[in-house]
Amino acid sequence: MALPTIRSICCIGAGYVGGPTMAVIADRCPDVQVTVVDLNAERIAAWNGADLSRLPVYEPGLDVVLGRCRGRNLYFSTAVEEAIAVADLVFISVNTPTKTKGLGAGQASDLKWVEACARTVAKAAQGHTIVVEKSTLPVRTAEVIQQILFASEGSGVGETQPAKSFSVLSNPEFLAEGTAIADLEMPDRVLIGGHDSEAIEALSAIYGQWVAPQKILRTNLWSSELSKLAANAFLAQRISSINSIAAFCEATGANVREVARAIGADSRIGEKFLQAGPGFGGSCFKKDILNLVYLCRHYGLEEVAAYWEQVVKLNHWQQQRIARLVISKLFGTVSGKRIGVLGFAFKADTNDTRESPAIRICRDLLEEGAVLQIVDPKVNESQMARELDQPAGDGDGSWQQVPEVLQAASGADALLLLTEWQKFAQVDWPAVAALMRRPAWLFDARAKADAAAARAAGLNVWTVGEG
Ligand code: NAD
Ligand code: UGA
Repeated sequence: MALPTIRSICCIGAGYVGGPTMAVIADRCPDVQVTVVDLNAERIAAWNGADLSRLPVYEPGLDVVLGRCRGRNLYFSTAVEEAIAVADLVFISVNTPTKTKGLGAGQASDLKWVEACARTVAKAAQGHTIVVEKSTLPVRTAEVIQQILFASEGSGVGETQPAKSFSVLSNPEFLAEGTAIADLEMPDRVLIGGHDSEAIEALSAIYGQWVAPQKILRTNLWSSELSKLAANAFLAQRISSINSIAAFCEATGANVREVARAIGADSRIGEKFLQAGPGFGGSCFKKDILNLVYLCRHYGLEEVAAYWEQVVKLNHWQQQRIARLVISKLFGTVSGKRIGVLGFAFKADTNDTRESPAIRICRDLLEEGAVLQIVDPKVNESQMARELDQPAGDGDGSWQQVPEVLQAASGADALLLLTEWQKFAQVDWPAVAALMRRPAWLFDARAKADAAAARAAGLNVWTVGEG
């Protein structure tokens, strides 16, 4: 039997994953119509905006890809049901944040948006539709989606339309923000989990347009769902591991970058994800590990749960440790003192601030009365206000956004580098130091700044992981 050919794709969720992922699929598969839908009309309008430098998601290279295919075979729309009705394949790419209340609050993923999508697909789909989990989900979520979809199977929409039927696949996304386009164009692997081999091959044929066949892995549904949680847990674990060693280096006179180079040279360990820093941020690592912890407890695996929980605990400790260190070096109080904060995004090359280490560290300093002067090339003031839970202002315990490092340094006792934006490696230290109150500090939580130049300009320098 001929494989079902995918001619029309709908992606529900126009966020950090849905937008870039569908842009690359549309770019590489010009014969496939791709429509990204979202309930958030403002977000869709921003995706449709004429100015490609003001897309809702900042990703290097995204504007170029979008420029090639938007309006050709890539569309952004709020007409969710219409797009589902004509789709052969629907990606569910909506948010799955940690639950804030009810059963599992603080650990389990909130699946209400995923369930809502399944219900909308059940209602609006026509004929046979392949439904693909793109969101990161707890193991066995496909079972829930299947139950909702299968309950509507068989119902047609008219004499001329075939009855509805569905296949459910898991196809988790492994892109990292800041490198999303490169990750999507040259993935380490594409993972497709499912129990319907025809549906699996139909989706493989889409990726096969640009991904080598040996990089397309096929598994059962549950392995695919779990592999995504496990991959994030392993990556985050490496960061907590190196951050734990960074603290040890500071106590003993070792240098974490030398240690990372030495251990990373072992091919069994590898050099990636060994950069000590202010702790991992981003919307997923913490959420996905906590979800794993919750599921382990659900299955009675207490030791396994406690093992992974420690990765998150260490991460909190690292963020707290940095705020405390700043306070302690500034003679035990930061009340009324100006501190320039270099970077607010959770990593460089993104405008995303979800779970950014800067949030917790800034909040701790504000609590102690510091006056923060924050500079970030891509994060806007309203985003900072939302994350810090207070508007920009004046006086003790306040913050303001400033355009450049020079303004962040003005009258400051310290600069605190929290995001590794390239521009922070190219600071004119004599000019900056001249604006600061002495004794002045540079706290470099990313080891990004030119420490020798800052020292030569008269600053005291603390670099993460340097004894
Ligand atoms: P996001 O919050 O940026 O985007 C999700 C979008 O879904 C929002 O715009 C929201 O309005 C929309 N939405 C929610 N419910 C809807 C509904 N019923 N109908 C239509 N639209 C709806 O989230 P994201 O960062 O793109 O993440 C999406 C999923 O992908 C999550 O499960 C996440 O864990 C996973 N993931 C994220 C990344 C990443 O780098 N951000 C990487 C890999 C996987
Ligand atoms: C991460 C994973 O890398 C992706 O594979 C995954 O798809 C994604 O989560 C997801 O599921 O959301 P992302 O969070 O976008 O991607 O970015 P990372 O590069 O992984 O960085 C996460 C955090 O760890 C950042 O705060 C970063 O600064 C920090 N980090 C990373 C370190 O502190 N040290 C490192 O060596 C690497």
